[in-house]
Amino acid sequence: MQPLRILFISIEGNTRNFVEHLTAYALAQHEANADLPTIEATEISDASDFTPETTPYFCFVPTYLNGGNGIDNGVKELMTNVLGEYIDFGANAQHLVGVVGSGNRNFNEQYCLTAKRYAKKFDAPFVANYELRGVPADEKRVYQALVTRMKEVVTDD
Ligand SMILES: Cc1cc2nc3c(=O)[nH]c(=O)nc-3n(C[C@H](O)[C@H](O)[C@H](O)COP(=O)(O)O)c2cc1C
Repeated sequence: MQPLRILFISIEGNTRNFVEHLTAYALAQHEANADLPTIEATEISDASDFTPETTPYFCFVPTYLNGGNGIDNGVKELMTNVLGEYIDFGANAQHLVGVVGSGNRNFNEQYCLTAKRYAKKFDAPFVANYELRGVPADEKRVYQALVTRMKEVVTDD
């Protein structure tokens, strides 16, 4: 399987930290079994150039919201908007194959709500979630979710 491609954004470093650990976990899996994919991750920030995506990718987005609960009243996305704009750029949304959300369960209904909103807006499945920097069990679970989803995408082609 081709490397799994990830685009992510990280304001305070938690997502970056998790993606680094996930990338190391994927490499270890690949070294043990060459059929299992590595991960190639790219961080999107306000300084990023918007480029056309041509291959399937996942996005990893933490949650920063202001306002309501997103269910019976609105919320406003803060800080992470540039990732959404990147996905919205050109035909990039067509290549998005899954969304992974992170957040803090103390936010109750708003837990991972940005990822859920991206999944709906860009018509891609919400494939996994984890809290804050995650724990080793999350790396295994999220990696398996990515591999499973990528197999579906490859079969669909
Ligand atoms: C101002 C602020 C607002 C946040 N709002 C939410 C929220 O609405 N829902 C949620 O699940 N987590 C929320 N979080 C938690 C972050 O999503 C969580 O800390 C995440 O790991 C941050 O990722 P990053 O360090 O990569 O930026 C909020 C955190 C901050 C500082």
